[in-house]
Amino acid sequence: MNNLQVVDHPLIKHKLAIMRNKDTGPKEFRELLNEITLLLTYEAARNLPTVEVEVETPLENTKGEMVEDKKVTIVPILRAGLGMLEGVLSLVPNACVGFLGVFRDPETLNAVEYYEKFPPLTEDHQIFIVDPMLATGHSMNHAIKEVKKHGGNNITIMSLIAAPEGVEVVLDENPDVKIFTAALDRQLNEKAYILPGLGDAGDRLYRTK
Ligand code: URA
Repeated sequence: MNNLQVVDHPLIKHKLAIMRNKDTGPKEFRELLNEITLLLTYEAARNLPTVEVEVETPLENTKGEMVEDKKVTIVPILRAGLGMLEGVLSLVPNACVGFLGVFRDPETLNAVEYYEKFPPLTEDHQIFIVDPMLATGHSMNHAIKEVKKHGGNNITIMSLIAAPEGVEVVLDENPDVKIFTAALDRQLNEKAYILPGLGDAGDRLYRTK
């Protein structure tokens, strides 16, 4: 699949192995998610457009290239996506941020939206939707639909762990998006948790269980 990139760098593998460990506590879990997000962003941002700028060095004038970071929008899917927000923002500090709150109905496993606040989006915005666990793909497809409804067009997804089922659901409905993930795991279980996965990312970030 051309639109799926597993960024399987040794440093990412190392950090992810610690995150998967059930004994890793929330402080370390948050720090590692932030560090992996930095590494994922480095890859996912590779094709961001740049504009030429004039720069005066101490010796002479030259040209440089800069990312139009005000035209980058990050959309964390609440709540676990918040764990990736600061990582992206630290590399693209002037990006806009749109928030989308979605939970998974435990019966139907469908995405249910409870909060939405987007900045104005235009076709030339580069949009990064972030959610550590790409499981069924329903929340992600909902997020993509909302971003497109608001005028967004160039969409990149960043996740920590993806399930093959979720990747298929997202790319079937949205062949135009690109997915960057640190790992592609085996499968979903009957409750739509990723196996082997790392459990509930939101609970592990914020110690809600
Ligand atoms: N969300 C999580 O936090 N973990 C999973 O395994 C699947 C969805």
